[in-house]
Amino acid sequence: MTNPFDMVLFGGGGDLALRKLIPALYRAHLEGSLEESSRIFPVCRRQEDADSYLDTAQKALKTHLRDGEYSEAGWSEFKESLRAVALDIAVPDEQWDHLADLLGGDNERARIFYLAIPPAVFGPCCENLSIKGLIHEQSRVVVEKPLGYNAKTSDEINSKIATYFPEKDIFRIDHYLGKETVQNLLALRFSNVLFEHLWDAQTIDHIQISISETVGLEGRAGFYNEAGALRDMVQNHLLQLLCLIAMESPNSMSAKNIRAEKIKVLEALRPLVGVEVDENIVRGQYVAGGIGDHLVPGYLEELDEPGSNTETFVAIRAHIDNWRWAGVPFYLRTGKRMEKRCAEIVIQYKKVSHNVYDKSAGQAVPNRLVIRLQPEESIKLVLMAKKMDSLEMELKPVELNLTLSETYDSIRSDAYKRLMLDAAANNPALFIHREEVAAAWAWVDPIIEHWRATGDQPCLYRAGSWGPQAADDLLRLDGRAWVNAR
Ligand code: BG6
Repeated sequence: MTNPFDMVLFGGGGDLALRKLIPALYRAHLEGSLEESSRIFPVCRRQEDADSYLDTAQKALKTHLRDGEYSEAGWSEFKESLRAVALDIAVPDEQWDHLADLLGGDNERARIFYLAIPPAVFGPCCENLSIKGLIHEQSRVVVEKPLGYNAKTSDEINSKIATYFPEKDIFRIDHYLGKETVQNLLALRFSNVLFEHLWDAQTIDHIQISISETVGLEGRAGFYNEAGALRDMVQNHLLQLLCLIAMESPNSMSAKNIRAEKIKVLEALRPLVGVEVDENIVRGQYVAGGIGDHLVPGYLEELDEPGSNTETFVAIRAHIDNWRWAGVPFYLRTGKRMEKRCAEIVIQYKKVSHNVYDKSAGQAVPNRLVIRLQPEESIKLVLMAKKMDSLEMELKPVELNLTLSETYDSIRSDAYKRLMLDAAANNPALFIHREEVAAAWAWVDPIIEHWRATGDQPCLYRAGSWGPQAADDLLRLDGRAWVNAR
């Protein structure tokens, strides 16, 4: 259980708060992780929204919790911690004084300011927190992407926040880092002698990181059309996953040590500039198609704006130029409106150096470690074995299943719950340092600049497919193929 804390949730009535944050806090309450006197202050712009907040939150919980999680009893306890307030973030008037009164003068109690608001108002919000004297020794601020549009704007946002909070109190969320299997990936790598010795260019042929989604714009057309898949998914989630897979063992699991290793990976990422962008990256945009038996419109129809060349898919061949990974391609892929929703990391091992069996035994399939983050969480290792009950010697791939949800049948993991409790407990290990954000943008910026300068047009792909043909060709040219989720 965490120590008691106060969390001021700016943007309390917004989509992120209602879809993810309030359900995450409810789950934390259900599992007994919220100390009884902890208080949550969702901030709404209008008084009437604050007045009806309990109804809104209850509806959100009923809609967004998984089957069986909501109960009237659970709600009537949880709602005691919710105290909605009305506040115009930009104006330092008496509404802020009211918030200050509610928070009181306890300087020992952790005070978390969660900014689930557009970055354009981060500055005024932090400034008013400061003017009203609400920031004390135990205060932390939690922020989330989009932290800028490129290196420059990201730096401006970070500088603004840094005017009011020291880096140690700034918790930048990437919700992928809160996913249970991502943390288990670290345990797998650094607590098993088996894997860490087989984790380099000597044994690994290549690595794939794929995040495929079936959803389209989900009412975020304005934001998404400005951002595109590279900014929305690669700059943050995919590069973070890549860091965790590729980094050296940190001296300890402290935030400082983990971040130092991640930054080294980002700095070793081979830059893709000019024509290298065309050679190593495929951009795509979906056209109408069927996902299952559900027909969906194309991106441009959904957007209702002809001529946008924003990418909704991207596939990348990346290299990390260091001793461990020399010559090992990292293939990254993400897209909207693809055939299946799945986030998966595939560690593809090399072939055995010599096949001792004759042809009748069949080919040995190279080992493969498949780490699935969603929809379900699993870790599977594909090994070769002898086919059972066969008099002949016949090789067969078998799956060693390290799936957590089958071992712990009550797993109810929730990335936001994990990260919010970490922020409350002042544990920044799974949050992102300003230097990481800067290093990621430094890699992404020249790619976007090349697309802009050349007027690059995305390749089209049918909604419900695995992306454009060119993405398959990218790997085929290397004698490889994407592992598509089954
Ligand atoms: C967000 C992106 O960061 O991650 C969305 O902005 C995307 O476009 C989402 O849909 C995916 O998160 P998850 O956890 O559902 O895979």
